[in-house]
Amino acid sequence: MNSGNQPVAPRLVRLLRGEEIDGAPPIWLMRQAGRYLPEYRRTRSQANGFLDLCYNPQLATEVTLQPIRRFGFDAAILFSDILVVPDAIGQEVRFEEGVGPVLGPLEADLLDKLNANKAASHLAPVIETVGRVRQELPSHTALIGFCGAPWTVATYMVAGKGTSDQAPARELALAEPGRFADLIDALVEISADYLIAQLHAGADLVQIFDSWAGVLGDDQFDRWCVEPVKRLADRVRAAVPGAAIIGFPRGAGRRYDDYRRLTGVDCLGLDWTVPIDQARSLQADGPVQGNLDPLRLVAGGKALEEGVDHILDGLAGGPLVFNLGHGIVPHTPIAHVETLVERVRNWR
Ligand code: CP3
Repeated sequence: MNSGNQPVAPRLVRLLRGEEIDGAPPIWLMRQAGRYLPEYRRTRSQANGFLDLCYNPQLATEVTLQPIRRFGFDAAILFSDILVVPDAIGQEVRFEEGVGPVLGPLEADLLDKLNANKAASHLAPVIETVGRVRQELPSHTALIGFCGAPWTVATYMVAGKGTSDQAPARELALAEPGRFADLIDALVEISADYLIAQLHAGADLVQIFDSWAGVLGDDQFDRWCVEPVKRLADRVRAAVPGAAIIGFPRGAGRRYDDYRRLTGVDCLGLDWTVPIDQARSLQADGPVQGNLDPLRLVAGGKALEEGVDHILDGLAGGPLVFNLGHGIVPHTPIAHVETLVERVRNWR
């Protein structure tokens, strides 16, 4: 029974706390705000480029809420980008149409000049967006804050762009581990401050995106992926006791098995390559999130229905957050997203 005037926490939050929840699994989708929505494209055209949209609390609030209005997802995710962190630290970041992120050179004295207060004030508009969104969201809808994992953010800072295997960062980590560790340590600190600020401003939980976890060799995975995320999670929980954290080490493969134990995240985000039997065994230790191939959502029809049913049949009996195995792609038909939500909500 819910006593007093305290509203019941969103189902997603209760699930991550380990409570049993009735009915269908909660659902939200990575990149649920984005170019596949005409209303997003309209709002984006009012901003002076993508980063300006991230730093405009009024427009960023609007695009965060758009997929909630349209699909009624169980969670909204803050509209921003993982690369606002290098931007806040003082490395030049641009988003080029049809290319993606392009970063300026990683100056040798960047970390010496790093000022945590300056970085925090640079990110203040994003924190303002969190507060605005939380005020406008229905109380049963969770608000997810996020940051990139130190390793993944570092790969962009070193290469200056996304590459197919993030070789420049892997090379630097092997050739100059001391220098690379300084970069990772700085990212742990700034990212922790950033997540703590999001939680204080009204985020109900946070997700750490480690999109490039899968390109690291085994010992390097422990050193640059697991260990920094553990420190990040520990710092966040020291400031916000009980903060719920989803870790998404995309492509971690067999290493998913000890990622939760070693980092202490509450929920494991699974990419679409994780087999259902492995997902079930991971679920024995706590909630999992995922893991529909985003291209099944593009294809629709049987490919979509079979993919959804496979996940629901395999995982919905336990703690599951239904999601994709990576972000929605821009040419995803809206009708397929509607079909997906309906199918998940009608489970049993
Ligand atoms: O809806 C949401 O999920 C919230 C917003 C969000 C964005 N990026 C908006 C965005 C989130 C959580 C991210 C995370 C992010 N950003 C990651 C981790 C997840 C992943 O996809 O692996 C990474 C690696 C980035 C860096 C990034 N941002 C890249 C490589 C690109 C270019 C590729 C692309 O899709 O265009 C972006 C741009 C970006 N971030 C867009 C959006 C909606 C598209 C920009 C536009 O509107 O032109």
